[in-house]
Amino acid sequence: MARLDSANLARARETIALYPHPRSALVPLCHIAQEQDGWLTPEAVEHIAELLGLTPAEVEGTASFYDMLHTEPVGRYLVGICTNIACLLAGGYELLEHAEDSLGTPVGGTTPDGTVTLEEVECIAYCDRAPCAIVNYRFFGPLTGADFDRLIADARAGRLAEDVPAHGTLNRVRRDGGLRVPADEVATQRAASDQARSERAAARPAGGAA
Ligand code: FES
Repeated sequence: MARLDSANLARARETIALYPHPRSALVPLCHIAQEQDGWLTPEAVEHIAELLGLTPAEVEGTASFYDMLHTEPVGRYLVGICTNIACLLAGGYELLEHAEDSLGTPVGGTTPDGTVTLEEVECIAYCDRAPCAIVNYRFFGPLTGADFDRLIADARAGRLAEDVPAHGTLNRVRRDGGLRVPADEVATQRAASDQARSERAAARPAGGAA
């Protein structure tokens, strides 16, 4: 359980500098913390709050809104089985039941070895490969029960390392150019935006709108 380590703290500070307002970096910082520990630890939530000038409750409130952010520990592999219409018609619920039996854990649970967390998910836009599943947000389908078992065995044996990154990794290649804006330009825009906000506030009639 950790605050951001020095490398991730540097990434966090670079990320904050990209936005006119520090709090705009909240979700990206949550992803950095999740990539580090696999989930958002309470210590990381506190650290993010400190960096952004927010309260831990504000960070937690935002993080708990998004399905892709986890405020409780999850397995090394986050496995989601789709049961929306195309997958339902193609056996999505049967696949989900098979997964529960095969993994020995209900939906929402994690295998005793901490390897796999099982989820039921909405359409993942892979309908032409129904019934399908995601493993750490990488797509697999169509899957029979036997295919699913093979997939999990491959994941556990490390044979999916090329295709499936560790949980929490959104991208394996980091942007180091392109949209980057010089820090002084960000500072100028931030100051202009703060001033415009003050002017709007000053121009507002006292006592609120009629
Ligand atoms: S309904 Fe399952 S991927 Fe679209």
